[in-house]
Amino acid sequence: MPEIGESVPSSWSNEGRADSLTIPVPETKKQTISDWGEDSLILGIETSCDETSASVVKGGRKILSNIIVSQAELHGEYGGIVPEIAARKHVEALTPAIGDALLQADATFWDLDGVAATLGPGLIGSLLVGVAEAKAIAGVLDIPFVGVNHLEAHLYSNLLIDEEAKFPAVALIISGGHTMLVHAMGHGDYEILGTTIDDAAGEAFDKVARFLGLDYPGGPEIDRLSLLGDPEAIRFPRSMIDEPGFDVSYSGLKTSVINYVRKAEARGEPISIENIAASFQQAVVDIQVAKTMGAVLHAGVDRVFLCGGVAANSGLRQGLADACSSRMVKMFVPPMELCTDNAAMVAACGAEMLKRGRNTSLDAAPDPNLPLV
Ligand code: KG4
Ligand code: ZN
Repeated sequence: MPEIGESVPSSWSNEGRADSLTIPVPETKKQTISDWGEDSLILGIETSCDETSASVVKGGRKILSNIIVSQAELHGEYGGIVPEIAARKHVEALTPAIGDALLQADATFWDLDGVAATLGPGLIGSLLVGVAEAKAIAGVLDIPFVGVNHLEAHLYSNLLIDEEAKFPAVALIISGGHTMLVHAMGHGDYEILGTTIDDAAGEAFDKVARFLGLDYPGGPEIDRLSLLGDPEAIRFPRSMIDEPGFDVSYSGLKTSVINYVRKAEARGEPISIENIAASFQQAVVDIQVAKTMGAVLHAGVDRVFLCGGVAANSGLRQGLADACSSRMVKMFVPPMELCTDNAAMVAACGAEMLKRGRNTSLDAAPDPNLPLV
């Protein structure tokens, strides 16, 4: 970090875009809640897992920038996320990502009205990097800091893109770390209807893909292969699909895939990786569609928010869209870049919290198990 008076990149300065400028000593501006408006700029920071992301969002809705630096290739060598490597990579990538997010938004630090960062759940080392940097920025600029729940932030990826996406709704938050059905009644007013009792759906995609020798992350690989296969070729079990309640289980499905391949190999039978991918994906889609539509009926809502990394899955998007349209339920799903982890959703969620005066103390510590409710 240059000293006051030294030459700095233009994105750090509040005086135009020249290549070499002098850092002015900023006027600090302590925001009160009544100062918040449609022009308020929030810097969002997301470092809960293996994406380093920084974003500037205006008025809680308009994405001015959303820089996402994926570590997938790095962790791919190990077949899954290595927490220590993830945290170190965040240290390297976060400050440049913030600089790029400001530059792309044509904003400077001094234009910001608040800073939001993911406080949890996630990997503790990774969370610490984002939270520490967010607090430092908020402290130096004397603007509010807000710690955001990563799962709640995924909900906001829907609210960000469509004015029609409103509460109440049933949200399916489906990612590498979580799979849950939530009755979202209002901002911060959530009831968890069901969760996975073992593996998250994305985790099952990643584990099955790893077993099949596919690259990490496995979800997109299985999605790609499934387009070439027959989803009816192998009847994998749909655990818990007929049981009451909205919990799901993916451990048995994953084991069935492994057993199927091992038996076929033992008998010397050829296997079609495309058919396995398509049949596995169809089982996940059938389970999630059935449970989600059950939850919609239970909650008596007519909106579904699909969000989280697995919301990028083509089969799930189509399957849930078909089920919703046949029952006159409106489904919302974010564009691909807002499905997986990103800071725009963190900024949007943080903006809503700041508007409601829910600032977070600079003493708050990240929580790897932060609950949604
Ligand atoms: O939300 P996310 O980026 O990180 C967590 O909060 O976990 O989700 C990552 C997960 C990974 O398990 C990845 O394999 C899965 O989302 N994923 C997919 C697809 N794209 C990403 N799963 C199935 N189909 C996809 N197209
Ligand atoms: Zn996530």
